Amino acid sequence: MSVWRVKPVSAFEADMKKNDLKRVLTKWGLTSLGIGAIIGGGIFTLTGIAAHDYAGPALALAFVIAGIGCLFASLCYAEFASVLPVEGSAYAYAYGTVGELFAWFIGWNLILEYMMGATTVAVAWSGYFVKLLHLFGIEFPIWLCNDLATATEKSEALGLAAPGFAFNLPAFLITWIVTAILVKGIKEAAKTNNIIVIVKIAVVLFVIIVGAFYVKTENWVPFIPDEIPALDELGNATGKMNFGFGGVLTAATIVFFAYIGFDAVSTQAGEAINPKKDVPFAIVASLIICTVLYILVSLVLTGMVKYTELDKAAPVASAFSGIGINWAVFIITIAATAGLTSVMLVMMLGQTRIFLGMAKDGLMPAFFKVLHPTFKTPYKSTILVGGLISLVAAFTPIDKVSEMCSMGTLLAFAMVCVAVMILRYKKPELERPYKTPAVYLVGTLGVGFNLFLMTQVRAATWNFFLIWGALGIIVYFLYGKRNSNLEKPEAGPEHTIDG
Ligand code: ALA
Repeated sequence: MSVWRVKPVSAFEADMKKNDLKRVLTKWGLTSLGIGAIIGGGIFTLTGIAAHDYAGPALALAFVIAGIGCLFASLCYAEFASVLPVEGSAYAYAYGTVGELFAWFIGWNLILEYMMGATTVAVAWSGYFVKLLHLFGIEFPIWLCNDLATATEKSEALGLAAPGFAFNLPAFLITWIVTAILVKGIKEAAKTNNIIVIVKIAVVLFVIIVGAFYVKTENWVPFIPDEIPALDELGNATGKMNFGFGGVLTAATIVFFAYIGFDAVSTQAGEAINPKKDVPFAIVASLIICTVLYILVSLVLTGMVKYTELDKAAPVASAFSGIGINWAVFIITIAATAGLTSVMLVMMLGQTRIFLGMAKDGLMPAFFKVLHPTFKTPYKSTILVGGLISLVAAFTPIDKVSEMCSMGTLLAFAMVCVAVMILRYKKPELERPYKTPAVYLVGTLGVGFNLFLMTQVRAATWNFFLIWGALGIIVYFLYGKRNSNLEKPEAGPEHTIDG
């Protein structure tokens, strides 16, 4: 059978009827999950390097550019979520339109977005947690809160002997705590997330409102500093620009990470009370709320501190200690630590739901669709995902995983924009509770924008990305193609419930 076979929309509808997950998520519960996944390491850390090295006060412009690109993708996601409200997200959308191989390939790339995203955030969480302990006078040994490469670098910088072994214990432990919450149930996960989201938004509003009183407008001049060619450590030209409009574009690719997560809402369709209406709403609403907050935080930050003096590691907290409000550092560090926990929660939730969708279609082993007899969560898959993330996070430097996360996400976004246009063309008659406005324009701009950002990523990341893609295609031909339920329709895409 062809690798371009398409899963019929009627089969998705049958899946939805057989759903065994608990439908507990409301419109605002879903929006809160979106915000929970979006606000995290991006705004609390990446703003530093983006403004200091690339955009200057035009950091806000970088957020606008990245936000517009994400908005195109979110409008396309929203239409799909209204037509096919199933847990597989972009993977399922592609399966219903372009074909199986394309869908598998998106699913394979979503592993980069969700698993690598959660891994990146686990490592960032560890950094904030250690900082928080430091604020309370507790010091963690370097070898017990970093991977070996980072621990060696930090020890040498302090004139200490390099450790022979290192293990990022906080990153390992937080992953298992999040895994336990996810196994227990979606309701517990949503409740934990809601509390964290309230704390996060309160602190972001605090930064905006209090910070606004300390803005000096002269710090915004020049808004876009003059362009200078960026050099590597050896002094060679990298082909990238610091500052100028080129620098703003590079900053946009960096802060893109801050927006990742709005699409995770679409993986919760199986647990939404009214998925056809509420999932599209939550996708767009969570993105718009975060975009507005991000732009305001960027303006305040670059107004409070001259961009040349912004701290690259903890820009938000340092801006407040810089103006003498030291207690704000405690609040911001606590909020960032809690905030990163909810990003992990939603990313890991999303990953297991995508695997669930793929397993129901036979493209992944049945292991991934086994639900817990009481909690009704895909617990085996959750434990496996948690285990893998905890180990990678314990041993890998953060920069190696974060760019892969952005690459996988950008490709998935571009593919969703393509798929929504194909579905509109091939099946104009389908009922669409939400329609992407000017779909061919928005879709084309979405594809162009996301592919353009992919071209901005480092060559080394591209190499790994190509190897990952080739591996995915091999796995598809060895496993997915042979086991697809479209090959054996009588198998039916049901869950298995243990017990
Ligand atoms: N958007 C998420 C963050 O910034 C991934 O942490």
